[in-house]
Amino acid sequence: MSRSEAAAGGPSSQAADAVAAVALDLPTAAATRALGRRLGELAQPGDLLILSGELGAGKTTLVQGLGEGLGVRGRVSSPTFVIARHHPALGGGPGLLHVDAYRLDGLGQLDALDLDADLEDSVTAVEWGAGLAERLSAERLEVKLERPRGAQAGRAGTGEARRAELRGIGRRWRDLPAQLRAR
Ligand SMILES: Nc1ncnc2c1ncn2[C@@H]1O[C@H](COP(=O)(O)OP(=O)(O)O)[C@@H](O)[C@H]1O
Ligand SMILES: [Mg+2]
Repeated sequence: MSRSEAAAGGPSSQAADAVAAVALDLPTAAATRALGRRLGELAQPGDLLILSGELGAGKTTLVQGLGEGLGVRGRVSSPTFVIARHHPALGGGPGLLHVDAYRLDGLGQLDALDLDADLEDSVTAVEWGAGLAERLSAERLEVKLERPRGAQAGRAGTGEARRAELRGIGRRWRDLPAQLRAR
C-alpha cells in the first residue's frame, strides 16, 4: 500500500479547520473494507465521515468495514429506500449511523432526518454527503474514493483498483496519518 501524506503544521494545526491528508491505494474490495475496519477501530463517538465517489466507487464497501471495526449489529447494505439506518453497538463502543444521501433533495431533507440525537453517540458515515453533510460537524473526515484513470490502470474504469483520499478536518483527525501508518 503506497501512501503520500501531508499534515498541516504550524500554529494553524490547532485550529478546527486544520487538515490532515492521506492518500491510499486500495487494490481490491478487501483493501477498502480493511480501511473501513481500521477507521472503525480508531473511531470515537461523534465522529463524522463524509464519503464521496461515483456509483460503485466503494463507499458502501468501506462502511461495511467500518461496521465490522466498530462491532455493530446488522448487515451494512446499500439502502434502496431507507436513507438512514442505525446499527447499534454489540459491545460498549459507539453504534453506526449509516446515511445514504443519494436520494436526499438538499439540506431541508437532511435536517428533517433529525439526526442530532444519534450524532453525538454514534459514528456517522454519510454516502453522497459532500456538499451536504459538512454542516453536521465542524470536525469531520472526508473520504473520496476514485477509480484510477490512465495507462497504469488499463482502460479507464476497469479493474478493481481504487484510490482513497482522506482529509481529516479539525483537531480530532490530527493524528490520523500516524494512526493509519501504525498498522
Ligand atoms: N478496490 C475496491 N474497493 C471497493 N470496492 C471494490 C473494489 N474493487 C471492486 N469493488 C467492487 O465494487 C463495488 C463497490 O460497490 P459499493 O461499495 O456499493 O459502491 P458505492 O457505495 O460507492 O456505490 C462492490 O461490488 C465491490 O466488491
Ligand atoms: Mg453505496
